Amino acid sequence: MQNFKDINFITENEAKDELAYIASEMAKADVAYYQQDDPYLTDAEYDALKKRNELLEKKFPLLIRQDSPSKKVGAPLVSEFKKIELKVPMLSLGDIFSDNEVHEFVASIRRFLNISSEIEFTSEPKMDGLSFNARYENGILVSASTRGDGKTGEDITENIKTIRGLPHVISAPDFPKIMELRGEVYMSKADFFALNEKNKLENKKVFANPRNAAAGSLRQLDPNVTKERNLSLLVYTWGEVSNVFWKTQEEFLKIVQKWGFPVNPYNKICKNEDEIIQSFRALQQTRADLPYDIDGIVYKVNSLELQNRLGFLTRTPRWAIAHKFPPEVAITKVENIRVQVGRTGALTPVADLEPVNIGGVIVSHATLHNEDEIKRKDIRIGDYVTVQRAGDVIPQVTGVLKEKREPSSKPFEFPVFCPECGAHALREEDEAVRRCTGGLSCPAQAIERLKHFVSKEAFDIEGMGDKNIEDFYKKEYIKTPDDIFTLEQRNGGDDLFSLSNGIHLENEEGWGIKSVQKLFKAIKEKSNITLPRFIYALGIRGVGVSTALLIAKHFGSFTSFQTAMQNDDTEKLLNIDGIGDAMKKDIVEFFKEPHNIKTIENILRYVSIQKFENETNENSKLSGKTVVFTGTLEHLTRAEAKAIALKAGAKVAGSVSKNTDYVVLGVDAGSKAQKAAELGVPTISENEFSSLLKTI
Ligand code: IVH
Repeated sequence: MQNFKDINFITENEAKDELAYIASEMAKADVAYYQQDDPYLTDAEYDALKKRNELLEKKFPLLIRQDSPSKKVGAPLVSEFKKIELKVPMLSLGDIFSDNEVHEFVASIRRFLNISSEIEFTSEPKMDGLSFNARYENGILVSASTRGDGKTGEDITENIKTIRGLPHVISAPDFPKIMELRGEVYMSKADFFALNEKNKLENKKVFANPRNAAAGSLRQLDPNVTKERNLSLLVYTWGEVSNVFWKTQEEFLKIVQKWGFPVNPYNKICKNEDEIIQSFRALQQTRADLPYDIDGIVYKVNSLELQNRLGFLTRTPRWAIAHKFPPEVAITKVENIRVQVGRTGALTPVADLEPVNIGGVIVSHATLHNEDEIKRKDIRIGDYVTVQRAGDVIPQVTGVLKEKREPSSKPFEFPVFCPECGAHALREEDEAVRRCTGGLSCPAQAIERLKHFVSKEAFDIEGMGDKNIEDFYKKEYIKTPDDIFTLEQRNGGDDLFSLSNGIHLENEEGWGIKSVQKLFKAIKEKSNITLPRFIYALGIRGVGVSTALLIAKHFGSFTSFQTAMQNDDTEKLLNIDGIGDAMKKDIVEFFKEPHNIKTIENILRYVSIQKFENETNENSKLSGKTVVFTGTLEHLTRAEAKAIALKAGAKVAGSVSKNTDYVVLGVDAGSKAQKAAELGVPTISENEFSSLLKTI
């Protein structure tokens, strides 16, 4: 982040330059954020520039630029979406960052209204998503729009209709003839992580945060894509309304909830400033546990009469303000930049940091994303950097303190050879990632593939954690997946005269007869496997749990899948809903590689694949029901539970609404459990879930 000179010592010329710099940086950031869903600055960097701009403009009002960021809301529209004119503009909110500013805000309202009594406010979590305007005419949802530049938005009518929880028709007698509801579309943290995991596996765009993922998912020209993305929404205000019959914001929130719209359960009434500050502290505490990202709290004067008297400044209401959470950032030193090699050969740079406490969590590594990111920020070994942690997201290096850099430091050179095996690391033209070309002769890729092979969603072999795999690989006990199944045979036991090749696992550190026997038993048990698990275990680039299931369903047996792939019958893949050209290419390439065919052949000497039952179970008690999972399940992974529920004919949703039939509670179930209780949706345990799977 830029270090700014003390505002008291700044000359007019300097201010002019700085204002120009800020205007151009913020314009760039706006385009990246609003149009490309791919931020160029962090929220903290953006807010710092905004604040600096404000200070400079206050001190030098004559220098205020035509294109000043203080005059703009969002970014101009350049998209293929139809435009919708907003009858009532969608405005922005002023920001504050401290208790002091809370007092100033309330004092200025009192001054404006010339009253000394206490003023009531609502305190509402500031959802970090993107705002929408949904227009109902005679109780029917007729159109929906994004905020756009505040006056004209993008037509997202068909997209928003795919979001569960938004009623399309309202028959309540008190629902105004013309009613525009406004609120936020967002993606839960869980859905964000799941989407990124899936996209990573499928070589698709990985989003920086849930907000960008929500924006990228809503602003899709094909609403079917939006539908797959599990978005949620909440209502918090209104636009054009034929008859505003409510007298307070609180009353409005109650009425919309009664009409069936989702409203944030953490909205609160505050009788005075102290309660406002208390609400801020309380939410700051719960913030990390909320299932979605919030970036602060919005305070609104509760009474509409007072709101009307207060009116608006240029682009923000005088009666509301956003109190932002301080960013969780810290400064620390980059001790090293390591380049890791993943299962598919992708080279990912990671910064090893001098450990630092950020918002209560000790951080010692941060992702550097890719080669271009290091170049853009010019991050070097030995640099002091700002590190930010946003919610659960992996810590990020957000900036370099260049003035603290040693004169001898050199730009980081990204390796063009694989750091693990020395093979060429190549970067395809349209890819951000550089990949090792060493395939399975690269130990890093081989180890990562083995880890994947035994992972929870694949063979799920207990006792074969990452550490053991690495150890077995280094000692050459296990080099390829089939070696796992011959390990017992090759283990010499206690017989010193055995002619085995000398493995004596039970004598090694960390092992004993019991644990070794347990491991062999686990391996034996798992050598009979389901078809989707087997397909997933192969580690074909792009094929995640859900794709493996699709393939299994389509082909029914491994033999017919493999035969089709090897006999140029690959077009069949494209008949599967959910498999596109890019994934097809990866699957075909996998089967073209003789090494892979050999590995499969070897594995199948020891492993049998269960017959795949394709039909969904229409007779299960879950058939046709909508289920939501929350918390950690004990016996199943989330992906398995989801697959099982789907197979039993159920629908699986990401968030709880009144259409949910069951919420399955795992350990540490969070606010979804609370939401279920509020809506009266039945909650069941994992065991109860399993018993519902049985046929009637
Ligand atoms: S009220 C005139 N309430 O914050 C005031 N906004 O910077 C209109 N936001 O674009 C907004 N949660 O995307 C309001 N409870 C809440 C909100 C909220 C999030 C967002 C919204 C708006 C931005 C304003």
